[in-house]
Amino acid sequence: MKKMVFFLAMVVMVLPFYGQGMDEGKIEELLSRMTRREKIGQMSQLDGRYDEVTREKVRKGEAGSFLSFDPARMNEFQRIAVEESRLGIPLIFARDVIHGYKTVFPIPLGMASSFDPSLVERCSRVAAKEARADGIRWTFAPMVDIARDPRWGRIAEGFGEDPELVSQLGAAAVRGFQGPDLSAPESVAACAKHYAGYGGAEGGRDYNSTYIPERLMREVYLRPFEMLAANGVSSFMSAFNDNDGIPMSANRFYLRHVLREEWMYDGVVVSDWNAVDELINHGYAVDGKDAARKAIDGGVDMEMVSSHYIRYAESLLEEGKIAEKEVDDAVRNILRLKWKTGLFDRPYYDDKAERPFYCPEHLACAREAAEKSVVLLKNDNQLLPFTNSVKTVAIIGPFADSQVDQMGTWAMDGEKEFIRTPLKALEELYGKQVRFIYEPVLRSGRDTDTKNFSRALVAAGKSDVVLLFLGEESFLSGEAHSLADISLRGAQSGLLEALSQAGRPIVTVIMAGRPVPLEREAALSDALLYAWHPGTMGGDALADILFGKAVPSGKLPVTLPCHGGQIPVYYNHKNTGRPAPEGVPTLRDIDEAPRQTTMGNTSAYLDYGKDPLFVFGYGLSYTTFSYSDMQLSNRRLLSVSDSLEVKCVLTNTGRREATEIVQLYIRDCEGSVTRPVKELKKFMRVTVKPGEQKRICFVLTPRDLMYWDADMKRRAEPGRFFVWIGGNSKEGLKEEFRLE
Ligand code: GLC
Repeated sequence: MKKMVFFLAMVVMVLPFYGQGMDEGKIEELLSRMTRREKIGQMSQLDGRYDEVTREKVRKGEAGSFLSFDPARMNEFQRIAVEESRLGIPLIFARDVIHGYKTVFPIPLGMASSFDPSLVERCSRVAAKEARADGIRWTFAPMVDIARDPRWGRIAEGFGEDPELVSQLGAAAVRGFQGPDLSAPESVAACAKHYAGYGGAEGGRDYNSTYIPERLMREVYLRPFEMLAANGVSSFMSAFNDNDGIPMSANRFYLRHVLREEWMYDGVVVSDWNAVDELINHGYAVDGKDAARKAIDGGVDMEMVSSHYIRYAESLLEEGKIAEKEVDDAVRNILRLKWKTGLFDRPYYDDKAERPFYCPEHLACAREAAEKSVVLLKNDNQLLPFTNSVKTVAIIGPFADSQVDQMGTWAMDGEKEFIRTPLKALEELYGKQVRFIYEPVLRSGRDTDTKNFSRALVAAGKSDVVLLFLGEESFLSGEAHSLADISLRGAQSGLLEALSQAGRPIVTVIMAGRPVPLEREAALSDALLYAWHPGTMGGDALADILFGKAVPSGKLPVTLPCHGGQIPVYYNHKNTGRPAPEGVPTLRDIDEAPRQTTMGNTSAYLDYGKDPLFVFGYGLSYTTFSYSDMQLSNRRLLSVSDSLEVKCVLTNTGRREATEIVQLYIRDCEGSVTRPVKELKKFMRVTVKPGEQKRICFVLTPRDLMYWDADMKRRAEPGRFFVWIGGNSKEGLKEEFRLE
């Protein structure tokens, strides 16, 4: 009998019952039973080598999370954690599911062109379902870094240059990933990254230092993170960059004062890959022990991949160099995340279950996302959509049939075999009504060999129209893939020049991970579509747009420069003391050396003036829209409880039903600090039938007018405001009002 009792005791010991659901009391109870080493084990995320060393670490409770993963091995290691470690705390398995898991959506910068939070939410939900089916419980997404410099390869991974758009789409992605119930079988924990200012890398060179003053940080770079913190994102990831000399992965001000004390955030902060160790490279820590101390004290709960916490944190505690409370708080956050994701109740995943990968609903969502992400930038003489008069089309260029490039960056679980390229989709969907002649001409976007140009010209000569696919290979954007020269590479532009001599209308389709300067290419094209890297269903989406079954509605989420030398160029810039007027003269307007002051001393380039090629928020349709009858409900906002209705009438003046992304911008004309010339405050997608009119109404409140003033206080200052409603950041109906 005695033996039996002992056995039962062991079972109870090894499989502690944590019970359904989570409450802080359970966290405290478990925490009270943890040794220091077990606590620090929870603060350690391993890079997922499924080997004997790792097995032993898990058994000893020295690992809280795995980063990369192997679906076939996860349950095996989870069983060690749950059934062989002393306290049975489950591991949380994480992965970068950025824009789809198996079903690949357009890159986030492409999805941002939709200005459609509900779409982003649905796509994230699909990604969560597919990822969760393979046992992933935590994704390192959405990336909500504001990017104003397209040399930075990771511009592809975010939602663009505007804080309002990035905030709304980032919050939508969190809703999609996490769902209403984070513990549900198709939810995954999300992660707001990279906190913060990472997109402001000097020179657009990844991992480079940033010099973002607190006001700009709060006005621009922090806004999406604040929105996500307020909307329940489960975790944050601290960034690689040092900002004004303090690495963000040890930055007490932003990780503790702003995130915890101001925003009252209680989620997990995980470092970026090896970022704790890299405090040494920064020259901010002298060694691994110092790095562990500064990261823990700075506010990083979990160390990704480097192992200084598990090596040094116990001695740091014994030496009093870090406080027990700092460790306990970090572990509380981690246990809370695990409980909320349901890991204590269901630590394993059903590795025998049928996977929902590529199911029709998921592919339909990817197709809708690809359609809405395409931006029509030019369409001379209504060349698009193709009419029945188009009988033969020359499909030319290295991106007409490139499955791997179509996936874009951060699609490591996507399978290129499932990618539907434009060539395949066009032949399958429209091959009966149109003859396609396909000539890739270049082996890749970087191919400089012009020997096949003649083949392109022959194909063009036999066709009614040229459909040219140019762009960037997917590996030219993404992490650690910044470019000093972001113009089209290889002989691509030369190919377009050559084709422009063939006497056929040219439709150019750009697949890229960043806004590429296209001044010459746009001039030589009769129609220009920007498709980003459009993912699994990009081919079908483009085919339907080209033949008019779908109508383009996308708008640019980033400014598209004339020339790389204009960078950084973005719409919500300051006015300066010498703003350049519209049509400021440039070198093209003069033919001899002018006297010094002829050009007018204003803030513009002699060669490229002041304007980009295409502005933020710009995009055409197959119909035309007019805006009229703008009205304000009042011209004075008297108190913080006031609100202002801004109305207008949107008319579809063309012949196609279509969707317009209506945008509302303001300008604060006078402030205790200088203010941007425009700020996007509201947007909505409105579908209008031909000839139909729709009344648009946005509501502005003083909260929408708040900013960080000269005293670093967030408030709406009295004064004069302009307000615009329109279809992009350059045009629109304008009115003004005052805040008293
Ligand atoms: C990478 C990226 C980060 C990613 C992490 C894990 O270096 O900076 O975005 O989530 O490591 O893969």
